[in-house]
Parts: sequence; C-alpha cells; structure tokens
Amino acid sequence: MNAPHPNTFFVAPGGHLQGRLRVPGDKSISHRSIMLSALAEGTTEITGFLQGEDSLATLNAFREMGVNIEGPHDGHVTVHGVGLHGLKAPAGPLYLGNSGTSMRLLAGLLAAQPFDVVMTGDDSLSRRPMKRVADPLSLMGACIETSEKGTPPLHVRGGAHLKGIDYVMPVASAQVKSCLLLAGLYADGVTSVTEPAPTRDHTERMLMGFGYPVECKNGKICVGGSGGKLIATSIDVPADISSAAFFMVGAAIAEGSDLTLEHVGINPTRVGVINILRLMGASIEISHLRQSGGEPVADIRVRSSHLRGITIPRDQVPLAIDEFPALFIAAACAEGETVLSGAEELRVKESDRIQVMADGLVALGIDARPTPDGMVIRGGGLSGGPINSHGDHRIAMAFAMAALRATGPVMIDDCANVGTSFPGFVELARAAGLGIVGDNRQP
Ligand code: S3P
Repeated sequence: MNAPHPNTFFVAPGGHLQGRLRVPGDKSISHRSIMLSALAEGTTEITGFLQGEDSLATLNAFREMGVNIEGPHDGHVTVHGVGLHGLKAPAGPLYLGNSGTSMRLLAGLLAAQPFDVVMTGDDSLSRRPMKRVADPLSLMGACIETSEKGTPPLHVRGGAHLKGIDYVMPVASAQVKSCLLLAGLYADGVTSVTEPAPTRDHTERMLMGFGYPVECKNGKICVGGSGGKLIATSIDVPADISSAAFFMVGAAIAEGSDLTLEHVGINPTRVGVINILRLMGASIEISHLRQSGGEPVADIRVRSSHLRGITIPRDQVPLAIDEFPALFIAAACAEGETVLSGAEELRVKESDRIQVMADGLVALGIDARPTPDGMVIRGGGLSGGPINSHGDHRIAMAFAMAALRATGPVMIDDCANVGTSFPGFVELARAAGLGIVGDNRQP
C-alpha cells in the first residue's frame, strides 16, 4: 500500500542535490508491460514496475477483465496471461483516473473485443481529446463513441470486425500509434502507422520481446493481425527518464550539485531532455550503458552548470514532450532567452502546460511569454511564492525544483497527482537535498 500523497508542497529556498538515487519505474513501459503480458500465453514476471496511480489504473482494468495478476510487491508483478482472445467483459465502466495512456491504448485493444466497455476518467482526463484515437479506429471498423466535444467517456461497442489500415498520423503521438498497433493485432491484413516524427517506441520493442513480428522502416510501423500470438517473457522496467528529468534539472541549476541517477531508461526516442540540457551547457555524463529487457539503460551524472538560453530544435520536441515543465525551469535559470515552438501538444496534456507553466514562472518573477505552440523565457532571478499546479504532477515537481534557485519559499497547491507517476517524490527529493515538505491539508 502506498502512503497518501501530499496535497501541498512547501519548499525552502536554496540548497543543492547530491548522491546517487534511483527514481521509480518508467510509466510508459509499465503500462505496456501489463497490457502485453495480459494478452500473452503463459506467465510473465515484471520487475521495476511503477506503483503509481496511472499504471495501477491499467493493472486494475485488466483485473476487471478477468486477468489474474499478483502484486505489485516492491515493483514485482506476476501476470498470468489469458491470450489475445481471453479477456472477459468487466462488470462496470473502467475508471482510469488521470491516465491518458491507459485510455488511449485500451481503446485500440477494446475495439476488437467481443464485449462492450465504457471508459471514464477524472476531471483532467475527461477534458482530453479522444477523437485522435476514435477516428482512426472507426476507419478500421471499430464502433467507438466519445462525448460531443470528442472527450471521455469512451463507449466501445464489442463485436466489431477490424480491418488493417494505412494511417498517416497528423500528430506525433506514441499513444495513437500504440492504440492502432494494438487494434492491428486483431485486424484482418496489415495495419501500418506512419509518424510525422519519431515518438517513443516501447510498444514496438515490447511486442517484439513477446515474439510478435513488427516491421519499422522510415517512420512506418506495420503489424499483421489475426492469427499471431504473444508469448510470455520477463520484463525489467528501467527507471523513468521523465521522473529523472526533475532531478537532472535540479542538479544542473543548483550550485554545488553532483547527482547520479541510476538505471535510467535512455531509449533514443526519450532522450530529448538530455540533448536539450546539454545544448544549454549542462554537464551530463552517461555511464554503465547496458541493455535491459530490450531497452537501453544507463547511469546519468549531472553536475551544476552555467546554463545558457537556446532555441530548442524542433526535432527534439517529441523526444522531450513530457519534460518541458522541468526544462522551462532550466530556461528560467539560464542566461538569456530560451525559445520553444512546435509544441502545441503541451496544451492538451494533464493540464495546459504552456499556460500553467507560464503563469507559475511569472508568479516567481520570470519573464515568460506563452505562444500558441510554445514559450519564450528570459532567464532571471526567481522569487518565492505560491504556485497552482492545476493538479498536474509534472508542473508540481518542476516548481519544487525551482525552489533550489529561489530567494524565498515556494508553496505548491494541488499536488496529490504526483502519485500518478512518482510515488515517494517528496522523500527521494528530500534525501537528495531539496528542502521539501509535503502536507495533506486541503487548500
Ligand atoms: C505516452 C506518450 C506521450 C506522453 C505520455 C505517455 C505513452 O503522449 O506524453 O505521457 O506512454 O505512449 P502522446 O503520445 O500523446 O504524445
């Protein structure tokens, strides 16, 4: 059982980060580990599983569909797969909390089942766009309905006969790609997805790890359906680079820091945060590079550095899409101007991350100007002050790190959702040197 997640963070100004630590397991890989092992034939052992609310929402959804899952105990999960055709109708709607990944990936999988399902979520998830999966799934023959605004709840009608399509994605989205590949496992013929820019490829890697053939060539990913099977395996989930990113930024901005993050997944489709911080002048050393369960992992050492503002290369945007809240804090501490464009997707994450981050930076005295698809930030001195995270886990953790360079305390509201991706954040950050205290008081 996880401890309750604090609703408010109080962070004392100053300090630095040091030592060695391992952040929790990768959220994207944890979701997929449950989904694919549930559909496999045989028993899969997962280690390093993220015991955060998002990946637990996926785990519970599969339990509700009749899959016998033991754990999680200290990141260890045993999944007794039911095969591609062994899922059972859940007794009621599947509630997926804050987790867009659960809902979008499950949409593809459930579109092919013989039973009806309704998927719901919390206030934030209930505002997020779902047509991006519903539309291409309908082209495959699925019967799936959103609200009039194109948002959850999602009603998926069973018994549809899916056929493979050739889909060119209008947005670079790993969730849409993965949704269609999962539907493609059940479709007649070949399903192909072409991405406008590379996005995280954990689904493709893991499908191959389960012995399912996937072809990837020039940004086009193909799976064949009807007839194949997944064979149980073992999965070691690396530490999440998206969670490590807060500590990387914290160590880079706080004078006197020297921090090593252990066993971090450094899949090439996820390393935008390293590339961007290095372009800004951060001292980052990668060591002990190895393979773990089909994914590259390494230790990452970050030392405090003099950061400079940059124009962020557009090709890095999908590779760092979840790390911009942290990167905006780095930009606020850099000398000169940082310009981000081509990142309109940030407006439809757990919150509108462009507006919410700009508001928070301005509240701390930084010149931050939001644009429709990015932000212009002029580095400067950070004051303390109150921050509303709008219930967005990554906004809360980013501003916690900002306190390392602030002249006064930073108080962050609405932080309970940090538990969706990073249970134990407060304790780990405090052990590394951040003056953070969590509180369960309601604002
Ligand atoms: C994810 C893909 C990304 C990312 C999200 C997790 C995934 O979303 O922002 O946190 O696990 O596939 P998009 O695919 O919508 O960019």
